[in-house]
Amino acid sequence: MTDAIRPPQIRVAVIPVAGKGTRWNPITRSVAKELLPVWRRTSASYAFEEAIAAGIEEVIFVVSPDKHGVFEHFLRFDASDLGARYQGESPRHLHERVKVRACIQEEARGLGHAILCAENDVANRPFAVLLPDEVLMENGLSRIIGITPSVLLMEVPYAQRSHYGIVAGHEHHGRVTITDLVEKPDPALAPSGLAVTGRYTFNPDIFDYLRTQEPGHHGEIQLTDAMRRLTADHPISGVIYRGTRHDVGQPMGLLTASLDFALKDPEYRDQVRKEVEALLHTDAR
Ligand code: G1P
Repeated sequence: MTDAIRPPQIRVAVIPVAGKGTRWNPITRSVAKELLPVWRRTSASYAFEEAIAAGIEEVIFVVSPDKHGVFEHFLRFDASDLGARYQGESPRHLHERVKVRACIQEEARGLGHAILCAENDVANRPFAVLLPDEVLMENGLSRIIGITPSVLLMEVPYAQRSHYGIVAGHEHHGRVTITDLVEKPDPALAPSGLAVTGRYTFNPDIFDYLRTQEPGHHGEIQLTDAMRRLTADHPISGVIYRGTRHDVGQPMGLLTASLDFALKDPEYRDQVRKEVEALLHTDAR
């Protein structure tokens, strides 16, 4: 019997925050969508904290030239709150343990291109990717961090298949061996209802595929297309996430995420419940 191949422990994560956020116009003319509040934190804080709670020690933000504010926000991250909520670590220890850096995506050429911009900073190490538009109420990255390459998947309704990367594969007890991926397919042509949720792990060889990737959906360099070529050479594992997820990249998701956190906040939940009930009562009249 051969020993299972253990992937090296992943300590670095890439969080792309260079998107223009056009769905949020006119707000995003002056404020980055990643800094919009979801309950009492900025929307991108949740992906950042999920990474740290999963053991990440270095976070690389991919920013656009006009979005330095996002990086500055995380450079001064609130270690006191984070330490108390996640690991009981002291703020000083957290600041020593977690490094935050930024690299610049000069042109908006798609998610695959954004990840490629982080190649030098990733420096030949296995790494994770977290898309901050996806807020997961349970730690999704920790489910896949021990498997490379891998991706977190979630079953989505038929009509939503055209909003995501969709995979084909064989499922066995919540694990999927991925055989194909398609970026935002027509629902009728989608190979399944399993969508990529925005949590990935890779070995540095993904950069070889990204560097040679032709533009795809929307004329952009798609991470999904590079992963599709990767599956021909190396299997990618999928893990199915069954927890709650909010898409804070759009207004309804931002609102429901805020409400979800507010209703779980021991300091405010009773008050929030009362306020919501009063609003529903007024609305029903
Ligand atoms: C990106 C990916 C897509 C993935 C989605 C998850 O799309 O390209 O494959 O399913 O994130 O949120 P975006 O939503 O950035 O257009």
